[in-house]
Amino acid sequence: MKMTRTVFVTGGAGYIGSHCIVELLKADYDVVVIDNFTNSVGVCDGESAALKRVEEITGKKIHFYKVDLLDKDALYGVFQKHQIDCVIHFAAMKAVDESIEYPLLYYKNNLIGMLNLLEVMTDHKCYQLVFSSSCTVYGEPEECPVTENHATGRNITNVYGKTKYFVEEMLQDISYSDEKWNIIALRYFNPVGAHPSGLIGEDPTKPFSNIMPFISQVAIGNKPVLTIFGGDYDTVDGTGVRDYIHVMDLARGHVAALSLLFKKHQKIKVYNLGTGRGVSVLQLVKAFEKVTNMTVPYQIAERREGDISIMYANAELAEKELGWTAVHSLEDMCADFWRWQKMNPQGYRTKDIKLNNSH
Ligand code: NAD
Ligand code: UD1
Repeated sequence: MKMTRTVFVTGGAGYIGSHCIVELLKADYDVVVIDNFTNSVGVCDGESAALKRVEEITGKKIHFYKVDLLDKDALYGVFQKHQIDCVIHFAAMKAVDESIEYPLLYYKNNLIGMLNLLEVMTDHKCYQLVFSSSCTVYGEPEECPVTENHATGRNITNVYGKTKYFVEEMLQDISYSDEKWNIIALRYFNPVGAHPSGLIGEDPTKPFSNIMPFISQVAIGNKPVLTIFGGDYDTVDGTGVRDYIHVMDLARGHVAALSLLFKKHQKIKVYNLGTGRGVSVLQLVKAFEKVTNMTVPYQIAERREGDISIMYANAELAEKELGWTAVHSLEDMCADFWRWQKMNPQGYRTKDIKLNNSH
């Protein structure tokens, strides 16, 4: 009987996946990864730039396959090659604007991708799954901090968010139909920051619209001014409030979820992964300025369509059942994000990595 457990990670070349794999390797899991590089950087031999850095950080090897989840035969082939004990499913498209413009692309990638994975898992009698969900499933919350019991699926303003909700429903249904399934859905709040080494961070190949990269683009002078969407929300200073969480805290949350899956059969459980602290856009800008000693000029503009006013987590259930809490401060998030940016002004293209894809 093999001693080391093998985790299959979809989308592991991306932002959260790569950080999570650092923690999985530290916890002595064997890691098998697939990614198709739709939103991450590949290098000339079909390897992932981020995962090469993860190997550098951890001194451990990763089994990587350039495979698209929509290619079920290829997916099946990887399951045939490795004895998979558990799956962490990160792979999805996540650009909100793009999802509204190309709904079929998002439904196909995020829903068919999930279906293929569940079928291949079933074929291989692998029933342990951690799914990357999002606080977006709560829509505009009735109250904050929001608990896992809050209604989901109402007033979700974009197709990306709906795919997360639909997958959660799909997972509820399969866990009801067959009690072998043991699933944890993690609802992330707003992940930011980077590994403290500065070697890995967020480097999407698609256009992004999240706040943190914008703040730093303004700080380094690539953009003249930060546009803050809305100054008239009913919040501490009129700007939108979110629960920013350090990506390394999030990564530890996955290791905690795996431990629970291997210890206890719960069919399906959902946990919020947030800090429990609401932070306004202006508070985030001030924290960034303080930590980096840079100035971030900003202008207040109209609210962004589809934005909600306040969203932050009640993360007590994760503390109680996963034994997990976020430990990093807002300052850590800004400092680590900034270190990654400074060390890698062109992201993974910065160092002597020979790229073979155009993004
Ligand atoms: P990311 O885009 O950096 O990583 C996702 C990875 O999946 C990418 O490397 C992409 O190339 C890959 N991928 C996408 N479709 C694929 C397919 N069909 N086959 C194989 N690989 C595919 O995104 P992330 O920020 O790391 O997010 C990871 C997960 O967490 C996603 O499911 C996302 O929706 C969810 N999530 C992210 C956030 C966030 O703010 N980053 C918040 C809540 C939930
Ligand atoms: C977005 C997505 C959500 C996803 C989440 C985490 C939308 C509608 N929702 O949420 O589905 O789960 O990211 O990845 O996009 N802001 C500015 N100026 C900017 C950019 C953002 O003021 O240039 C503000 C926003 O109005 C918001 C806050 O910053 O108040 C955070 O925005 P963002 O990083 O885009 O995340 P969310 O809107 O929470």
